Amino acid sequence: MSNYDVIIIGGGPGGYVGAIRCAQLGLKTAVVEGRGALGGTCLNVGCIPSKALLHASESYHEATTNFTKMGLMGKSPSVDLPTMMDYKQSVIDGNVQGIEFLFKKNKVDYIQGWGKITGVGEVTVGDDVHTAKNIVIATGSEPTTLPNVEVDEKIVVSSTGALALKKVPKKMVVIGAGVIGLELGSVYSRLGAEVTVVEFLDHITPGMDSDISKTLQRSLKKQGLKFVLGAAVQKVETTKTKAKVTYKLRKNDTEATIDADIVLVATGRKPYTAGLGLEALGVEMTERGQIKTDAHWRTNVEGIYAIGDVITGPMLAHKAEDEGIAVAETIAGQAGHVNYDIIPGVIYTTPEVASVGLTEDALKEAGHAYKVGKFNFMGNGRAKANFATEGFVKILADAKTDRILGAHILGPVAGELIHEICVAMEFGAAAEDIARTCHAHPTYSEAVREAALACGDGAIHA
Ligand code: FAD
Ligand code: NAI
Repeated sequence: MSNYDVIIIGGGPGGYVGAIRCAQLGLKTAVVEGRGALGGTCLNVGCIPSKALLHASESYHEATTNFTKMGLMGKSPSVDLPTMMDYKQSVIDGNVQGIEFLFKKNKVDYIQGWGKITGVGEVTVGDDVHTAKNIVIATGSEPTTLPNVEVDEKIVVSSTGALALKKVPKKMVVIGAGVIGLELGSVYSRLGAEVTVVEFLDHITPGMDSDISKTLQRSLKKQGLKFVLGAAVQKVETTKTKAKVTYKLRKNDTEATIDADIVLVATGRKPYTAGLGLEALGVEMTERGQIKTDAHWRTNVEGIYAIGDVITGPMLAHKAEDEGIAVAETIAGQAGHVNYDIIPGVIYTTPEVASVGLTEDALKEAGHAYKVGKFNFMGNGRAKANFATEGFVKILADAKTDRILGAHILGPVAGELIHEICVAMEFGAAAEDIARTCHAHPTYSEAVREAALACGDGAIHA
């Protein structure tokens, strides 16, 4: 039995980052993790493995489409999926070891096993009981599925199975045109699969600015992905090697089927709280199965906090990390804070998508007077040299004050470019502040400046 200031249950981005900050603030801290590796969903079966496969498949695509255009001649590479998966695993392993090192460096104890809160201030792991003044639940989320769709992780897979396929399918059906569906659909499409994405809504990437949704869909279609929109999946039937997906078109109720070697179910994730003992403790939950917290991540039970995917808000690693830091600061008596209005969202397709703040659709609906500064990457010299002219930067600013309200980027390294705008928004900047900041040439970032200029007297290269 050990006594701690803080025990965090779950070693994902919320839990492990929170633990390091707790230790930095002088709190005796332990993390309980059951999966046998630190890093959570994100590192083991989420952000990092998917980005490794996106990088590998994008490199393959680049080599087979653009190399000869640049005078790089020779035999095109071919795909060896097992080796690609080994590369993916080595990236995971290296990062897992990195967190173990950080735990040792910061003197965070790593308790391996599944934790249950057996009383206020008490966490039981196997036969061991540990006590703590504060307990933070950071147990993350798990994939959802649909009625009449059984995920076997062989033919009908969740993202976890899709990140570990043994061969590239000939035909793949992806259910759900959200972030996972588009990222992993892109991976297998680039590697040679015929990918059809079936989506319930009549547009892809729900919640994103509709300008982005439409242009991204056009671009992915050009790359070979097929889309069936406004379609409710009814069932998936499988044989030993194949699947048949039946869907109904919502506009006219007609039913159709698609055959596939692999079906990826990517219809969202739900909070994971199994085995924590929350009911017995009387921890309040939302209707959607999330743990209810106040603005300081406190549950209704004294000394128990919750952060990350298991509470409300976007299911994103950086949101979980920010909450981890803020809850540590709160427990240490400081003013932990997360600005939920400025959390960027990125989709790592090609072109990449990045978004922060309000969408144009939301501004219209709210009747907010705004102006739009938009700049296409076609006018950016660096993008031209790098075959990356698809897409645009769009900045939305208040019509009167010029204060930036949101930004939406589709294009090269959008996920990097967005942070200039995030920082500007944190400082309450106007579009003119970005427009008057010198940007190095030739960079993709110049497109951000041009969009900011377009909010005022006009972009130069448009
Ligand atoms: P998790 O990372 O889910 O960690 C929770 C941990 O708690 C798990 O390791 C689990 O084993 C452990 N646990 C649960 N219950 C117990 C218990 N009782 N005892 C002990 N341990 C327990 N987000 C991004 O921001 N960018 C991306 O690019 C991105 N890509 C993604 C790709 C995929 C395929 C998926 C599935 C998700 C992706 N996400 C991405 C989302 C991201 O992974 C999550 O938002 C993030 O991992 C949430 O962090 P967390 O700490 O709340 O929970
Ligand atoms: P999602 O919520 O992004 O998308 C799910 C999609 O499935 C939606 O478009 C929804 O309309 C559709 N859908 C739901 N029911 C359906 C049905 N019956 N038939 C057809 N379509 C249906 O969820 P996704 O992609 O599973 O991702 C889960 C979470 O993981 C997200 O919240 C996301 O934030 C996170 N994630 C983040 C990434 C990133 O930041 N780059 C990458 C991958 C995941």
